[in-house]
Amino acid sequence: MLLYNNLDSKLYIGLHKSFGISLLFWMVARVINRLFTKAPPAAPMPKWQQLLSQLSHFALYAILIAMPIVGLLMSVYGGRPVDVFGLFQIPVFVTPDRGLARFYNDLHTDIIWPMIIAFTLVHIGAALYHQYIKKDNLMARMK
Ligand code: HEM
Ligand code: HEM
Repeated sequence: MLLYNNLDSKLYIGLHKSFGISLLFWMVARVINRLFTKAPPAAPMPKWQQLLSQLSHFALYAILIAMPIVGLLMSVYGGRPVDVFGLFQIPVFVTPDRGLARFYNDLHTDIIWPMIIAFTLVHIGAALYHQYIKKDNLMARMK
């Protein structure tokens, strides 16, 4: 039983890392796409909302890119190469350091993760506000 549990948790953390790294690729692709294609012009709204929206979007991009990078750093400083869906491996490209592994672990779990939750809630809250209170059909902009 213990053996199965151990195998399970290895599988899950392996999948966690694989999906995390693939998200990093998607985010980089998205940023490139965002830089080279125009987003629709900002919906009409008060200046403070426009500022808040730009700030939140920038924060979402920053944390969604930082999270997998910090996860990767945690792993390699812990001396573990990162396997991505069995397709390729990211080797340990730094000198392993327990202190730094610990630091990136704290950053991953205690700092950036709560920020992802917070900004996502603000983001979804704003989308719902536009959809059901302002009724300005902003969600159609995602097409
Ligand atoms: C955006 C992508 C990612 C998100 C949202 C994310 C989220 C999380 C969260 C919430 C935890 C804490 C789980 C808990 O202990 O309660 C965690 C742990 C962990 N993550 Fe990630 N992660 C991401 C990417 C990665 C990547 C790319 C790697 C490694 C290559 C990684 C490696 C780890 C490891 C090793 C742990 C366990 C740390 C420990 O045992 O204390 N993560 N992750
Ligand atoms: C109920 C779920 C969600 C809804 C209804 C929603 C809605 C939207 C809308 C309407 C936009 C376009 C905003 C505009 O053009 O001004 C957008 C953009 C975006 N969303 Fe979401 N979203 C949801 C979940 C998420 C989640 C979970 C994340 C990531 C954690 C996320 C990240 C982003 C990012 C990064 C953008 C791009 C902003 C930009 O490039 O300007 N969204 N979302």
